[in-house]
Amino acid sequence: MRLALVQTHPVLGEKKKNLKGMARATESLEADLFCFPELCTTGYAMAERDQILDLAEEPEGGDGLEFFRELSESKNAAVVAGFPLRDGARLFNASVLLRPGEVPVFYRKLHLFAREKQVFDAGDRPPPIAEFRGWRLGMMICFDWVFPEVVRLMALEGVDLVLHPSNLVTPYCQKAMFARAVENAVYIATVNRVGAESYVDGPSLDFTGTSQLMGHRGDLLLSLPAGEVAAAVVDFDPKLARDKWLTDHNHLLDDRRVEFFGPLAQDGDLGT
Ligand code: ACM
Repeated sequence: MRLALVQTHPVLGEKKKNLKGMARATESLEADLFCFPELCTTGYAMAERDQILDLAEEPEGGDGLEFFRELSESKNAAVVAGFPLRDGARLFNASVLLRPGEVPVFYRKLHLFAREKQVFDAGDRPPPIAEFRGWRLGMMICFDWVFPEVVRLMALEGVDLVLHPSNLVTPYCQKAMFARAVENAVYIATVNRVGAESYVDGPSLDFTGTSQLMGHRGDLLLSLPAGEVAAAVVDFDPKLARDKWLTDHNHLLDDRRVEFFGPLAQDGDLGT
């Protein structure tokens, strides 16, 4: 697989400008899969739900969804990107996986971070797994990383590569993905944004960039700079994630002592 990580600097509330920026950033790139940050169409620090509703995509469409769909078709590639998603009266911090000629697959962020709780509804379904060119792809969004169950659940469902659109403001995640990847033997692409934003009535946020692809054995396969817009491609074989043997005697999933895990014993059932 050739994966493109596209680290952007969205301008708050400027959807058209942000879409143009993403078009420019990907113009000269060829890849099987393009991954963009969380809320990359709108920016992050929206304090009011009303501010977001007008800029949100809907499951049937929207400027942002249309832009990503065209990108997917013109590049003959899959696209994963994060944006606000309006579904009836509800508003989700969501991502989509688009594949040429296929129906979109949406994910609605399960674990809302800080003030996101004031504007978004929490996701209401498990993370989906979908196939593209024989690779099994999953999605989580930013703060979901803090909950190891999310990647483990996808690993139990056979994911090869977790796409992880992010707007990270803490310095921990990129390092922590070493553990998430190694304990599950999966690839994780964390695609973050750069720049700073302030809430109208509150704190300023500095986004930490450093988008990366973490390999299934903990090799950092690509890392972008901390403070700059950047895009780069990396070639790797996601199917190596199907080898869950850590040593000749240790299988990462089968060796779990689930009989002692109580409520954690239930394996996931994500379907496809
Ligand atoms: C985050 O979940 N955007 C930190």
